[in-house]
Amino acid sequence: MIISAPTDFRAAAQRRLPPFLFHYIDGGSGAETTLRRNEADLQALSVRQNVLRDVAGLSTATTLFGEDMALPVVLAPVGLTGMYARRGEVQAARAAAAHGVPFTLSTVSVCPLEEVQAQCPRPIWFQLYVLKDRGFMRAVLERAKAAGIKTLVFTVDMPLPGSRYRDAHSGMSGARAPLRRMVQAMTHPAWAWDVGLRGRPHDLGNISRYMGKPMALGDYIGWLGANFDPAIGWKDLEWIRAFWDGPMVVKGILEPDDARDAVRFGADGLVVSNHGGRQLDGTLSSVAALPRIADAVKGDLRILADSGVRTGLDVVRMIASGADAVMLGRAFIYALAARGEAGVGQLLDLIGRDMRVTMALTGARTLADLGAHTLA
Ligand SMILES: Cc1cc2nc3c(=O)[nH]c(=O)nc-3n(C[C@H](O)[C@H](O)[C@H](O)COP(=O)(O)O)c2cc1C
Repeated sequence: MIISAPTDFRAAAQRRLPPFLFHYIDGGSGAETTLRRNEADLQALSVRQNVLRDVAGLSTATTLFGEDMALPVVLAPVGLTGMYARRGEVQAARAAAAHGVPFTLSTVSVCPLEEVQAQCPRPIWFQLYVLKDRGFMRAVLERAKAAGIKTLVFTVDMPLPGSRYRDAHSGMSGARAPLRRMVQAMTHPAWAWDVGLRGRPHDLGNISRYMGKPMALGDYIGWLGANFDPAIGWKDLEWIRAFWDGPMVVKGILEPDDARDAVRFGADGLVVSNHGGRQLDGTLSSVAALPRIADAVKGDLRILADSGVRTGLDVVRMIASGADAVMLGRAFIYALAARGEAGVGQLLDLIGRDMRVTMALTGARTLADLGAHTLA
């Protein structure tokens, strides 16, 4: 299969993955209105072409929390990444490091944080969910510190999991799910051999180490449902701010009021995000929410944005709308599922090239040259 555009990886991932995994990645919540809006609202933004602006020496580089980055891009935390490719978190982290960008490890990764950090030459970022089990939270933060992780991403848009209706249809959850998953694996032999057999153990590495027993994929959905904490408020998080001395990024902000609360809380950054359309269906796309948040808090903390970013042009659109950097979710997961570490590297090359073409033709030499004036 020929891959020449960043968006080509999705079809390649669909061919390789058992449907229960492809649809778990690809799907959103409810009627998937916000999922569609994320991409549609980005694509609806026109960029202005400006010529003869001397763009020699064009650079996509930036700095975030003291880290040099070749692109204003961070790989987003994505649960179960080790099910989409063999030890997938390690492969994605290595590709990110080779391309000069950070990788964020999810709380609910297959590979434990120690395994990923040991095989990645750049400090990874770690994402934490607010869970009922505070003992787990404290223990995992201590482990992250001990492993040399500096940047903590704290995801706040999951007081409970969204309604992901595709999962019951695909065999991810619902009646006879284990049997359906097994049949799907048998009909996708390349995945079954590479990931299903050679990618073991398939458990939630960060959690099973804490529990002292394996957490199987079948236990995952139930564990998540039982452990999210709807009783949480900003005050309950103060101990984490006090405990974590590195940069802390709050992920899942869509309203200026909440962004101001994140500043008061002492966050170093926030991610404007609707979780890729997987939580509150019907809410704003991230790119529609972003300009008002940037107006409210730009300069007080660093602003990242995600949800719907698929191309270098989309990265430029987010930056022009007020972000300092973006997170990529599905874009890198499709590439990883299709071609592993090499696929993620190829995606980052394509996104970098696409960004440079877009910046050159809009007359921008650096990221600082992008702004509201870039958009029509
Ligand atoms: C399969 C999947 C699993 C995800 N798991 C997590 C997670 O464990 N923690 C988290 O903070 N966000 C998670 N997210 C959300 C991503 O971090 C990110 O916000 C989202 O994918 C961005 O949208 P995009 O996929 O359109 O780029 C997940 C997203 C997907 C697609």
